[in-house]
Amino acid sequence: SWTMGAFKDAAIAKIRAQVGTGRVICGLSGGVDSAVAAVLIHEAIGDQLTCVFVDHGLMRLGEAEQVVSLFRNTYNIPLVHADASDLFLRELAGVTDPEAKRKTIGRLFIDVFDAEAKTVGGADFLAQGTLYPDVIESVSFTGGPSVTIKSHHNVGGLPERMNMTLVEPLRDLFKDEVRALGRELGLPESFVGRHPFPGPGLAIRCPGEITREKLDILRQADAIYLEEIRAAGLYDIIWQAFAVLLPVRTVGVMGDGRTYDHVLALRAVTSVDGMTADFYPFDMTFLGRTATRIINEVRGINRVVYDVTSKPPGTIEWE
Ligand code: XMP
Repeated sequence: SWTMGAFKDAAIAKIRAQVGTGRVICGLSGGVDSAVAAVLIHEAIGDQLTCVFVDHGLMRLGEAEQVVSLFRNTYNIPLVHADASDLFLRELAGVTDPEAKRKTIGRLFIDVFDAEAKTVGGADFLAQGTLYPDVIESVSFTGGPSVTIKSHHNVGGLPERMNMTLVEPLRDLFKDEVRALGRELGLPESFVGRHPFPGPGLAIRCPGEITREKLDILRQADAIYLEEIRAAGLYDIIWQAFAVLLPVRTVGVMGDGRTYDHVLALRAVTSVDGMTADFYPFDMTFLGRTATRIINEVRGINRVVYDVTSKPPGTIEWE
């Protein structure tokens, strides 16, 4: 749209004025926000920008590969891909408390980014895809004035540690505007239109202890669920949809055998900004079909339930 075109031009001019001939380093989480910020900055200052993608191994199916290929092949933006999934899994072993998970992931993200940034050689500026709601939510995330419901992790936390000037070109934008800007920059719809995804990734969709095996099960189930939502033409109506692998096993029957496997919860909500949300009223045929596919196709799941909690009193994510 013309408005976003004008915003883009103004943002590019502002980045050039701020950065001059300096070097910028940008942390990529794999999500839409940091990617849009990076592509915008690259358009403004070209190869004065280096991106570091901290791959925590907690992305959805195929997403890490998509980010790497988008940057390297489509945009030709210098990218360091730090595959740190082993480190993250090792440090998360035995961690079950939701806040402890969030803090561990946030800390490791910064450690890995910091180490990679040093190998890249000094930068003068640190770029982040901070959005307007992040600015507010990180103060008191969905809680009352002084209650922290969840410690928010995206690429934040880096500034205090790194002593670099921040470049935050998306600071005044809401999610929908970031998507519009992404389209303006030519990012593919399949990427820009993605549902929001939390910084701690699948770790907070796997209540209890996280293992590689559980993550693999969750990734497969989640992909089937999203495939069914797309096939039903519902993806863009829904704000966020995802599967949660519960640390509960139940008894089932498959063929003439007994099974004792995980329960999977499906979540889908509509929302304007993520601050409040309503559960999505799927019809039962859709839910039944999806549950059957997941149980038939994913080993390790023998029961599927649907979450009918809105926000409040639930939060969107389970942890
Ligand atoms: P909740 O679960 O609190 O989440 O209702 C509201 C929205 O924020 C996302 N979310 C996060 N995003 N880092 C993020 O970048 C986080 O740590 C985080 N935690 C929750 C959540 O997916 C939903 O869209």
